[in-house]
Amino acid sequence: MIKKAIVPAAGYGTRSLPITKVLPKEMFPIKGKPSIHYIVEEAVEAGIEEILIIVSKYKNLIVDYFDVSLELEAFLESRNKVELLDKLTLPKVHIQYTRQPYARGLGDAIRLGRSFAGNDPFVVLLPDDIILTRGANATKQLVDLYQTVEAPVIALKYIKDELLHKYGVVDVITQKDQLHSIKSIVEKPKVSPPSNLAVVGRYVMTPDIFDCISTKQDRFDGEIQFTDAIKELISLRTCYGYEIEGDRFDIGIEEEYVNLIQYVHHLHEQNQTN
Ligand code: G1P
Repeated sequence: MIKKAIVPAAGYGTRSLPITKVLPKEMFPIKGKPSIHYIVEEAVEAGIEEILIIVSKYKNLIVDYFDVSLELEAFLESRNKVELLDKLTLPKVHIQYTRQPYARGLGDAIRLGRSFAGNDPFVVLLPDDIILTRGANATKQLVDLYQTVEAPVIALKYIKDELLHKYGVVDVITQKDQLHSIKSIVEKPKVSPPSNLAVVGRYVMTPDIFDCISTKQDRFDGEIQFTDAIKELISLRTCYGYEIEGDRFDIGIEEEYVNLIQYVHHLHEQNQTN
């Protein structure tokens, strides 16, 4: 069973400036809860017991949010507003934090989780990607599959040609239905993407990935790409891609964020009437 998860949340959120000068995008609200709350809930529902959130010095709000609010609780009790205490309930999981000192990219952020992961497989959840499902959540789909394949598994989605340049894109050999073994992977291809299957922000990784993360920054964007580490891992062992079930929303794209809010409100109203 996979019990650990790493959530890289140290980025500047440049796509969502200027609000991200002061409000981390992981705190963008969705029905009154910050988006990272949904990410942590997803992990917990998938059986995760320990979470490492990679933050930066500008992300203290995340740490504050997952702390208990003793004064607020006492205040609500003193004012006979105990019915509001439910709203302060946090996911039941152990969360720890580490700071990424320099914004050197996703590969660098995940590298900081090495001692946390130890010799255990772990999940990576990118908090930009909120994935709503009818059945098992996205992380659970991957974690369940890991039980069978016992190898790294990456969440994939079919993406239209014109948007592929925003993603890691894979070339695959289909094993069965939604399950593929990955032949190659390329980060944000500018020309000739190898397929329409793109990486969305959920990964099950094995600890050998850490030896594959280079510490060399890319000459062009100064980042250490996680995709490059996956490319290296593929050359050493079989890695799988799984076309997950669910609707994915990138909260860093305003239109998708708005769609997500509407979708969640709609689901809530449906639940109320049923
Ligand atoms: C990251 C990954 C990319 C993946 C994407 C999914 O890119 O590097 O491979 O397809 O997340 O959201 P980012 O969106 O952080 O630029």
